[in-house]
Amino acid sequence: MAGQPPTIRDARVGDLEAIFEIYNHEVLNGTATFDTDPRVVGRDQSWLAERDAGRHPVLVAEVGDRVVGWASLNPWSSRKAYARTAEGSVYVHRDSRGRGLGRSLLAAIIERARAAGLGVVLGRIAEGNESSVRLMEHFCFGHIGTQRRCGEKFGQILDVELMDLHLDGG
Ligand SMILES: CC(C)(COP(=O)(O)OP(=O)(O)OC[C@H]1O[C@@H](n2cnc3c(N)ncnc32)[C@H](O)[C@@H]1OP(=O)(O)O)[C@@H](O)C(=O)NCCC(=O)NCCS
Repeated sequence: MAGQPPTIRDARVGDLEAIFEIYNHEVLNGTATFDTDPRVVGRDQSWLAERDAGRHPVLVAEVGDRVVGWASLNPWSSRKAYARTAEGSVYVHRDSRGRGLGRSLLAAIIERARAAGLGVVLGRIAEGNESSVRLMEHFCFGHIGTQRRCGEKFGQILDVELMDLHLDGG
């Protein structure tokens, strides 16, 4: 299974258990997300069901019949003038990292952003998350700057690195 190429496809409600399991590990144990409350299947179904999947999709990477990672595009702001910008997220199961799945998922989500006519994909990365910075640099995301000391998790005050990819050559 380890060497098998992933299938990347749109997420379905039936994938939520696996998606949330991957995500909740980071909610509870890491600083990749600044969420602190785990997501719950059923209660948090609207996160998937109520989004505009054309513009803000959730994709999963499946190896065999197991969801081993996911990626999403999310509105960056509810203010309409920011509609050309979306924030990208990528999460790979802790047992499946370092095998190129993050790259496959980010490539697919960038393609979807391009197809939806978006102009900018943003990345917000907590300090110390080197694999995430490397992943975004691989796709030529640029460094916007560092938002200093804007987060706090597990008693640690955290900087956030802002990165962006311009899809329209701007
Ligand atoms: C960030 C993450 C998605 C990367 O996924 P992955 O499948 O392990 O990454 P890949 O194997 O595709 O490698 C992507 C790049 O990261 C680098 N990388 C992977 N693991 C690394 C590590 N532990 N330290 C430094 N770089 C690392 C790879 O060398 C590769 O760089 P390259 O393209 O220049 O060779 C994964 O580590 C993860 O889910 N982390 C927790 C959630 C998270 O931080 N998400 C990002 C915030 S939205």
